Amino acid sequence: MMLRVNEVVASAPGRVNLIGEHLDYNGGRCLPIGLPQRTTARIARASDGRVTVRSGDLTWSGVVGERPDGWAAYVVGVLDVLGIHEPLDITISSNVPLGAGLSSSAALECSVAAGVDALLGLGLSREELTAACIRAETEYVGAPTGGLDQTASVYAEAGQAVLLDFADGSHAQVAFDPESAGLTLLVVDTRVAHEHVDGGYAARRADCEAAARTLGVGHLCEVTDTASALTALTDERIRRRARHVFSEQQRVGEFVTALDLGDWAEAGALMTSSHESLRDDFEVSCPELDAVVEAALEAGALGARMTGGGFGGSAIVLVDVTLVGDVRSAVDAAFAANGWGAPAHLDAPPSAGAAVEAAQGAPVVT
Ligand code: GLA
Repeated sequence: MMLRVNEVVASAPGRVNLIGEHLDYNGGRCLPIGLPQRTTARIARASDGRVTVRSGDLTWSGVVGERPDGWAAYVVGVLDVLGIHEPLDITISSNVPLGAGLSSSAALECSVAAGVDALLGLGLSREELTAACIRAETEYVGAPTGGLDQTASVYAEAGQAVLLDFADGSHAQVAFDPESAGLTLLVVDTRVAHEHVDGGYAARRADCEAAARTLGVGHLCEVTDTASALTALTDERIRRRARHVFSEQQRVGEFVTALDLGDWAEAGALMTSSHESLRDDFEVSCPELDAVVEAALEAGALGARMTGGGFGGSAIVLVDVTLVGDVRSAVDAAFAANGWGAPAHLDAPPSAGAAVEAAQGAPVVT
């Protein structure tokens, strides 16, 4: 007896990037982990000719092919790029904080893509799922992001970081188990909202592309003689942008080696240098992110840095488990002293990527 799948539940995680920031669109390497916070999409076939998307109190509904504005575009964008013209009822729930730089939009796209793939039997590979989610965000929604978030949300694995190489599209798992050394990774959400459709991210990208054009390469991470390249870049701002990209690419390699050697002190120091480079050369940090890093280091953390695109969002902190309370209190105190609203604290054990959780079918009558 054949079963026709009528309803699927699929989920996908938010992410934090351990290191390798603003390297995806520069053809470099990034090292994200999946978060335990996930977005879940329950997707059912409908018979009313409409696509209806619900999330909490919000509902968007349109005839198949209609284009939403706002949050539902991340869902309908996935259907659009996959060429799906079926009426569907989609219900979203999520505990990935929104606007926190933890890739809530990628978690949404990837949960929907994994769900419709299973519901409609599309048989998509992980590469195809990832590519569809990237296109939904960059082409349909129009956020000029670089692919890190969707790739992380699809390829993440429990207990592992995933080394993404945007030069050749390859991925490799890298064991990431700070608990084995008595450490833990904390996420601090500054609650300063950030948006990639805003100009800062696009401006950084444009600076990097300008540098690559001057240097005659397709992407900045193709440059091998970085010292000569920096001399050749005469515009001071563009030179600083390139210097971040070159130094960050170097740090990714050193960080992977440090993890391999179990040298957590070095891994922490590299996270902190990454933050300094993003703050001073790439100029995508903000006072709240800097305050998290400073307070965490003063309270004894091994390393700390902003994660994601910047201009708000979240920071990550590598710290001995016995100092977690001290770090969180120090960060809270710094925010209170500045008159800022309290940040949110999350734990970040590396968690699994997009997956189908349940499917229900009915017998097909032939
Ligand atoms: C955002 C973007 C990613 C990546 C990071 C910075 O999260 O969506 O593509 O560029 O910023 O590393």
